[in-house]
Amino acid sequence: MNNKIKNWQGQRVWVIGASSGIGAETARLLLAHGAKLALSARNAAGLQHIASGHADTLILPLNITDHSALLAARDTLLEKWGGLDLVLIVAGTYNKMRADEFDLEVAKQLLEVNINGTLNCLDAVLPTLLKQGSGGIGIVASIAGLRGLPQALIYGPSKAALINLCESLYLDLRPRGINVYLINPGFVATPLTAGNDFAMPSLISAEVAAQELVSGIERGEFHIHFPKRFTNWLRLTRLLPYRLYFWLIHKVTGL
Ligand SMILES: NC(=O)c1ccc[n+]([C@@H]2O[C@H](COP(=O)([O-])OP(=O)(O)OC[C@H]3O[C@@H](n4cnc5c(N)ncnc54)[C@H](OP(=O)(O)O)[C@@H]3O)[C@@H](O)[C@H]2O)c1
Repeated sequence: MNNKIKNWQGQRVWVIGASSGIGAETARLLLAHGAKLALSARNAAGLQHIASGHADTLILPLNITDHSALLAARDTLLEKWGGLDLVLIVAGTYNKMRADEFDLEVAKQLLEVNINGTLNCLDAVLPTLLKQGSGGIGIVASIAGLRGLPQALIYGPSKAALINLCESLYLDLRPRGINVYLINPGFVATPLTAGNDFAMPSLISAEVAAQELVSGIERGEFHIHFPKRFTNWLRLTRLLPYRLYFWLIHKVTGL
């Protein structure tokens, strides 16, 4: 569905959300494959650590909720590289929330990062990619965005919006020569999930998640989801009528 990537050597990749977890391991893997990386997140020291041994890596610390910081980072990157082959928007945040603990401020903060932050990233890169008529955008949503789930009262809708956004982006951008990747991880052991107080089914490491993500892009997939033993199960639930879906989720989660 997208162009395949056979060789990462010299590919110019901007990873936004690269200081820990899935983004950090993806950046490490791409550096090992010979790609040229620009790394962004708030934690500059974390980014430096990922880039150690790769002196030409661009370190562009920023908060994705800061639109002007993203535009400035984009300008620095274009000044150095002259173009961009792939941007991976991995940055995101999670709050466990159920309806009886609804907190409007926390909800708005989450949406500000997961949705508005992603839109800020898009605004920074779209004109360049459209002008080039080449390159790609990958957005990390979550398999939790496929259907409503307990404890994901705001996180789930934020990721559902990103899934829908990727589908629309693909329709608009693929005919213009731009690759679009929807990346839906299941449970991955990272700082984001470290506080979960339940057994996470089919939990994988961030290293394995990065390998899945990168090999999905290499194969030119649109929907890159992993681990399949878990994500395929959730994808199937989309076919269920609500009565059966709600019954199943209550039964499986006990919530
Ligand atoms: N772990 C899972 O099970 C799982 C499952 C499905 C989807 N995901 C998604 O995968 C993505 C990566 O999560 P992860 O699990 O790897 O967690 P993580 O280790 O907490 O990584 C999150 C990354 O996003 C960056 N970030 C967060 N808020 C930011 C902001 N306002 N501005 C700039 N950067 C920001 C963090 O860097 P700084 O703190 O340095 O800014 C960090 O680099 C997220 O979008 C998450 O929703 C994770």
